[in-house]
Amino acid sequence: MNIQIINGPNLNLLGVREKSIYGSASFEDYLTELQKHFTNISISYYQSNVEGELINKLHEVGFSYDGIVINAGAYTHTSIAIADAIAAINTPVIEVHISNVYKREEFRHTSMLASNCKGVIAGFGMHSYRLAIESFLI
Ligand code: DQA
Repeated sequence: MNIQIINGPNLNLLGVREKSIYGSASFEDYLTELQKHFTNISISYYQSNVEGELINKLHEVGFSYDGIVINAGAYTHTSIAIADAIAAINTPVIEVHISNVYKREEFRHTSMLASNCKGVIAGFGMHSYRLAIESFLI
């Protein structure tokens, strides 16, 4: 099984940015743990701060991979273009958030992507990614 994780803007700074919200682990460290946990799954990782590059990655993997886990960061709340890309591809997509966006500012309560996704997982710290991957095994 091939799973692609896509992280959007500012998520390259995990472990450095707003640690009280996002924790002190880098994504690279967490990814190593994930790969050890899911030994039978090939997990690829891509991060970009650029909206169009996230769309290009969705197009690239979205007709061959078994699942995509996307944390589009703030683009979650704004990007019709990423929503359209998710609708355009065949691979099921799970939207994830590290923080519980529903406990935070009101502008984070809206997702442009969620209605085109298979499901949404938010609020479990980095484990949101693990739970999303688990969901592809159900
Ligand atoms: C986030 C929540 C978003 O509102 C925010 O813009 C992020 C991270 C999360 O993982 O909790 O960059 O997607």
